[in-house]
Amino acid sequence: MSDLKTVYPVPEAFARDALIDKARYDEMYARSINDPDGFWAEQAQTLDWIKPWDRVKNTDFTGDVSIRWFEGGQINIAQNCLDRHEATRGSKTAIIWEPDDPKAPGRRISYSELAAEVRRFANVLKAQGVAKGDRVTIYLPMIPEAAVAMLACARIGAVHSVVFAGFSPDSLSGRITDCGSTVLITADEGLRGGRKVPLKVNADKALDHCPDVTAVVVVRHTGGDIAMKDGRDIWWHEAMADVSDDCPAEPMDAEDPLFILYTSGSTGKPKGVLHTTAGYLLYAALTHKYVFDIKDDDVYWCTADVGWVTGHSYILYGPLANGATTLMFEGVPTWPDAGRHWEVVDKYGVTIYYTAPTAIRALMREGEAPVKRSSRKSLRLLGSVGEPINPEAWRWYYDVVGDGRCPITDTWWQTETGGLMIAPLPGATDLKPGSATLPLFGVKPVIVDNEGQPLEGACEGNLCIADSWPGQMRSVYGDHERFAQTYFSTFPGMYFTGDGCRRDEDGYYWITGRVDDVINVSGHRMGTAEVESALVAHPKVAEAAVVGYPHELKGQGIYAYVTLKSGETPSEALRKELVAWVRNEIGPIATPDLIQWAPGLPKTRSGKIMRRILRKIAANEHEGLGDTSTLADPSVVEDLVGNRMNGN
Ligand code: PRX
Repeated sequence: MSDLKTVYPVPEAFARDALIDKARYDEMYARSINDPDGFWAEQAQTLDWIKPWDRVKNTDFTGDVSIRWFEGGQINIAQNCLDRHEATRGSKTAIIWEPDDPKAPGRRISYSELAAEVRRFANVLKAQGVAKGDRVTIYLPMIPEAAVAMLACARIGAVHSVVFAGFSPDSLSGRITDCGSTVLITADEGLRGGRKVPLKVNADKALDHCPDVTAVVVVRHTGGDIAMKDGRDIWWHEAMADVSDDCPAEPMDAEDPLFILYTSGSTGKPKGVLHTTAGYLLYAALTHKYVFDIKDDDVYWCTADVGWVTGHSYILYGPLANGATTLMFEGVPTWPDAGRHWEVVDKYGVTIYYTAPTAIRALMREGEAPVKRSSRKSLRLLGSVGEPINPEAWRWYYDVVGDGRCPITDTWWQTETGGLMIAPLPGATDLKPGSATLPLFGVKPVIVDNEGQPLEGACEGNLCIADSWPGQMRSVYGDHERFAQTYFSTFPGMYFTGDGCRRDEDGYYWITGRVDDVINVSGHRMGTAEVESALVAHPKVAEAAVVGYPHELKGQGIYAYVTLKSGETPSEALRKELVAWVRNEIGPIATPDLIQWAPGLPKTRSGKIMRRILRKIAANEHEGLGDTSTLADPSVVEDLVGNRMNGN
């Protein structure tokens, strides 16, 4: 292990060939802030346009909030990600697919092959009546068909809504209904870590509540035995068998919707984050190129799932827009054992590896041996995303995985931001373990106090962004008012991220975690309100309050305080039943880690639950409980402290 250095300078060998050095970053960043129109107009030349734009930036963070980029321009994303590469790199591998089972054959799909598959599937969608603007829900495992389905939607101007394959039937049906999809694309089963995920069975249950879905396209993946409904369900391979691969790319207005992706907030149901066409693509492509220092011979691997925004922007759209080779992995890091990722790195000569701190912590727990079994000599750059990376995990990643050779780019961003916002450029930025470092082009971070006053210099507060960038979400699907309210009303005139942040004396940014009622479990966002409503839907539960607590592997775990209805008795069996109930209602990612029986919850006299106190108890910080005398019944706190659950 290296000593506990606080700054890791750009390695000389890396700087020599990097796309951007420090001087160039400074110059480009300054221009992006002082002359956004000029900067983005120049960057937009890297894309193929059907019709040039009339106006680069037309954005307003006040009033109703309106965000438009490249108005008047027309473009097609599938054409930019595929067809335009055919002439120069048609036979280059676009997607490497590595299956869950290490012994099963993988796939390499060239740009030409992928382009043809996408055109064919676009025709399948058309044959099912899908037209420009229609919503298509995708509920697929990590298989190439997920990429094909998304790009086929983009080709004909349909709006995709990808639902992570770990979500329950209820979560799926809610998302289908919210965006009014009439077509669902799914598979017989998924495979993760040797275990089957019953996707079609889940889809059938979901569709009992979605009468408007008229067609379901089913990929035969495991060959598992499933039911097909006559007149509604069709097999992917049969539909693709005799369809033409000629399908013109639909000219899309720059601000036409590209996709909806549901994400959790502090209140209410998950919201449909809406991203549009040209600005999103430009931002995903540019950030991917510079933050990952992409060269034509790179083999790039982002371990996320396409069900999350990281999969959208950094498995699919960014890499393909840049003509890169992107690896899609169906499995998990710890199966068949903790050496799997490094075997995959060696097998394909992966040069850039991008993962989440939770995966690093899980692998770190298994020790160095599974890593050292592999050579990893192809690696030149590492990335981290999804949650703050603790310096201990950072150093292990750097020393053990990267053999002290590879810079780590810690990328801070959100589903809402469309692309990376604060991250080091590996050839330009000295690194500090645990800091996402400096803002990317066009990003103007502001740290404000709780009254909304911007703070200067070294400080800590709430992270806002002062002005728009092209990848920014445009609205909450079907509820623009909620968009304005959620992101622009807390600190008027600014986009509020929901994150706390510190800026140090060098101007480096350190994300401290969410300041709202959102928790981050293994890099996945979970609204505490969602878990609470799942719990109170159980017939024996009267009330529930859910908070996050520090968890060694997951970053944050889910801690639930549950008050039972009178007459009900707490028991281990009931605890298990409630855990299973929540998994079933939302999905395994929402599994409560700890449930504490709470005869009463700490409430103010006006009935508001004091979450601050519940968070402290869950974190075992009993000294800092603060003033409890304003509570309606201060004695409940003693009971909760006395019965706090332990475990990780
Ligand atoms: O709290 C921040 C955390 O994840 C949140 C965004 O979650 P989601 O929309 O699901 O997107 C995850 C992938 C972009 C943020 O508000 N977060 C994400 N990346 C980092 C992070 N926290 C610290 N450091 C990061 N690199």
